[in-house]
Amino acid sequence: MIQKDFLPNQYSDLPAEGKVTWKAPSNIALVKYWGKRENQIPANPSISFTLDACATTTSVTFSKKENDSGFSFDLFLDGKPKADFKPKIQTFFERVSDYVPFITSYHFKIETSNSFPHSSGIASSASGMAALSLCLMDIERQLDATMEQGFFNKKASFLARLGSGSACRSIEGCLIQWGMHSDIPESSDLFGIKYPFKVDSVFKNFHDTILLVHKGAKQVSSSVGHNLMHDHPYAENRFRQAHQNLDKLKVVFTEGDLEGFIEIVESEALTLHAMMMTSNPYFILMKPDTLEIINKIWDFRKRTQVPICFTLDAGANVHVLYPEAVKEQAIQFIQNELVAHCENGHYICDRIGKGARKLVQNIQ
Ligand code: PMV
Repeated sequence: MIQKDFLPNQYSDLPAEGKVTWKAPSNIALVKYWGKRENQIPANPSISFTLDACATTTSVTFSKKENDSGFSFDLFLDGKPKADFKPKIQTFFERVSDYVPFITSYHFKIETSNSFPHSSGIASSASGMAALSLCLMDIERQLDATMEQGFFNKKASFLARLGSGSACRSIEGCLIQWGMHSDIPESSDLFGIKYPFKVDSVFKNFHDTILLVHKGAKQVSSSVGHNLMHDHPYAENRFRQAHQNLDKLKVVFTEGDLEGFIEIVESEALTLHAMMMTSNPYFILMKPDTLEIINKIWDFRKRTQVPICFTLDAGANVHVLYPEAVKEQAIQFIQNELVAHCENGHYICDRIGKGARKLVQNIQ
């Protein structure tokens, strides 16, 4: 599919008002997206586990406006007006308005809340943009009853990508791939797809315990970080490596090769941070406790042979990944040795999830 396939036909009658509510999960990348071109086109393909517990719930109440000019919306986080989120939504509306042109016909009340604590260092942009995109798609589906589910999901992912790249991987579960890759049929830079190859059952109920090492705001935002890949001395090699890692993962997933999985996932996490450290200007998002945790995981794995590993996103928090079969040992290890490195001992137990879902209004 190409961009213009997401332009809608003429709408018939626009409903005067309504309300839709969606809950969308966060996701954790195994092969990382870091670097982008114009219009949120990724510089390399990526793949992620969809999460379950970390999620954003968004309600959009819409009412017809007098005139069709400009965007009109109010935004509430946990019931309180949130003026500082408005520019991001304004930019999102500008980017998506050709694809969902009804948005200029309505005034929107956007009410959003996250399942995870506000300042936990967990980015809400992926789940937030996914939930909002699904709400818009739900309204569009009311205008076009013939819309198929496959198209609904693809276009929701397409819109979410325009809000925040990784958000396009937060529509469906459990393993989502985004970005053109020559050996992955149907892969696209425009939206995420369900991973199309065989995945051994060991990878189908993975856990992700998120250790909250540093809850404050990041010193460098993802968008600044992505941009620094433009003149980065190692960019081309890094982008090539992401393609190769997706090829390697294909075998790993088919064979249920946990050792191979760990090698790729940990290398991807450290490469992401190596790119940050070798950007111009350079920066470091890991904290001393991030490194302590990594070393303890390596030591524990060596001692016990328990297949537990880590990944990182663009921050200091550590995602500890492990299969269901070793859950008890992993949790014990985390509590005994790793929690001490978390800010106020805080961590979140999450696991692979099935993707976003619509909520019946007012029942959340
Ligand atoms: O979606 P963004 O622009 O916030 O970028 C996300 C980048 C990483 O989380 C570091 C990697 C990824 O693929 O999710």
